[in-house]
Amino acid sequence: MKKAILIACLLSAACQSSGTDSEEGEGQAIPADPHSFARPNEVRVSHVDLDLTLDFERSVALGSVRLELERAVHTAPLVVDTLGLAIAKVEGNDRRERSFQLGAESPGFGRPLTIQLEPTDREVTITYETTPGAESLQWLGPEQTAGGRYPFLFSQGQSILTRSWIPLQDTPGVRVTYEAKVRAPEPLVVVMSARQAGRSEDGSSLFRLEQPIPAYLIALACGELESRAISERCAVWAEPSMLAAAHAEFIDTERMIQSAEGLFGPYRWGRYDVIVLPPAFPFGGMENPLLTFLTPTVIAGDRSLTSLIAHELAHSWSGNLVTNATWSDFWLNEGFTVYFEQRIVEEVYGPERASMERKLDLDKLHDLVAGMEPWETVLHIDLQEKHPEDGFSSIPYDKGALFLRRLEEVVGRERLDAFLRSWFDSHAFQSVTTADFEAFLRRELLAEVSVDVFDVQEWLYEPGLPAQLPATSSDAFERVDRELSRWTSGVAASELSTEGWVTQQWLHFFAQLPPQLGSEKMEELDEAFGLTQTGNSEVLFSWLRLSIREGYARADERLETFLMTVGRRKFLQPLYEELAKTSLGLARARRIYADARERYHSVSRGSIDAVLKVDGPE
Ligand code: BES
Ligand code: ZN
Repeated sequence: MKKAILIACLLSAACQSSGTDSEEGEGQAIPADPHSFARPNEVRVSHVDLDLTLDFERSVALGSVRLELERAVHTAPLVVDTLGLAIAKVEGNDRRERSFQLGAESPGFGRPLTIQLEPTDREVTITYETTPGAESLQWLGPEQTAGGRYPFLFSQGQSILTRSWIPLQDTPGVRVTYEAKVRAPEPLVVVMSARQAGRSEDGSSLFRLEQPIPAYLIALACGELESRAISERCAVWAEPSMLAAAHAEFIDTERMIQSAEGLFGPYRWGRYDVIVLPPAFPFGGMENPLLTFLTPTVIAGDRSLTSLIAHELAHSWSGNLVTNATWSDFWLNEGFTVYFEQRIVEEVYGPERASMERKLDLDKLHDLVAGMEPWETVLHIDLQEKHPEDGFSSIPYDKGALFLRRLEEVVGRERLDAFLRSWFDSHAFQSVTTADFEAFLRRELLAEVSVDVFDVQEWLYEPGLPAQLPATSSDAFERVDRELSRWTSGVAASELSTEGWVTQQWLHFFAQLPPQLGSEKMEELDEAFGLTQTGNSEVLFSWLRLSIREGYARADERLETFLMTVGRRKFLQPLYEELAKTSLGLARARRIYADARERYHSVSRGSIDAVLKVDGPE
């Protein structure tokens, strides 16, 4: 994926063609997006109608998509994004064929598909197939599932991967409604980020989403799946053998929805379901509308990692209802969402847990910023000539959340809440830029606030962390610090009072450990607390990373099993990075990765290829 960074403004046609005022259609002008070939200010897709068959033998999806159009410039062709798609034919309104060209391939971005329209065309139908390596799709063999009997498929659209399974205008500035008809072999079940609309006579599953969304939120999963209700509007989907554990873990979800509604206004999507995917899923969670996709690694048995649900749920407002218009505005999605996540956690689990999670994030952020290039630390990040992936870091997340936290400190919670609610109400189902938000903020909230107290310019456009950061402290962490200093001053690990410590306290404990402990000290901790055997993925991840750093060989086997089964990039990347720091470790990492690579999703592969400097087979 990093190959893509070198792109010059290959997409310059798209940059130049959008935003020309004289050519605007009925809708708002769509901001230029350097990561899409589409020219939505000339011809815009407003509705997507998919008709697909999932072929597990060949690992391809095939069929057609009908795109409904709004045409502002009547002489202009339709331009859509494609990545590795085989286009068979394109038809217009009258079902007669239209001529089309596929432009040059630009690595990571794909090829523009340009379709010549007849004056009467209000829609086109594209017949196509995906390729077996389609970046969005991960086709899993039965051995990668919990049940072990059936294959599994899921899609991951964000940021610009939807174009690898659907030809469409793959920019978050364009919103579409969608419907889909999907055929899969019995007894597999298909679910999508949409309302279930029954079955057709031929047994296909039907879906419909009336709310307009950006392309990156169209999503599909298929496997041996069952669901179990949490409330009237909320259920959990999982493979049968995972269902009971998943249901128990996510039982607080309805309470979270109610808490979120109290804070940000009504939930506007109907149902809120979650699906637990196989461990190969590359993210913790993905906020696909009506159906959050989740890694099974959040199932800890004690609901200690459920802030991830709060996070994905919060995206139902920040991200899905009001969407970043370009990937430079990504912090509007994630920063708001982290702040909201913390507010939901505070309400559902109490202020102590919320402040622990905030403190963990803040400490991590300080460490990271120290090692980053200035351009990477700007909220409104410049991604011209870069891939959206290059803007992915803790900055949009945690610096973004601090921005809102600091605003809260300045204007008070009540005013901030009212302001945020009016931001969502007034921009519902729209895609927005940082400049849109800045103007609204200056007008609605900061008119009387001096720049000495809150410097918007600095927060949004300047690198590093502003001096006036909101204070964060945690009594629970102070207790951890006390035990840690007892240990470092000679008290045996088994003598420390760690009873009742929650996951976040353990994570803080690991983060604060002095460097160069050595294997003996590691073994002492392991024997006292059973760390190599923990069932909590976050604790395990921290412990494994430490074990690599400290050369603690007794965790080696667990590390290899973890790397072979879990595909979550947030865990994989730091572990491989830690291994790659020594030449022995690097050799070991490459050996493990040689087997593991094909089990990972393309987004994880892209990141780890770069860490280990290996070139993938494709
Ligand atoms: N939308 C993101 C995942 C994402 C971001 C996918 C960018 C592709 C490109 C999701 O909401 C997210 O942030 N997930 C986090 C959860 C966490 C911050 C609670 C994750 O996966 O770790
Ligand atoms: Zn998120």
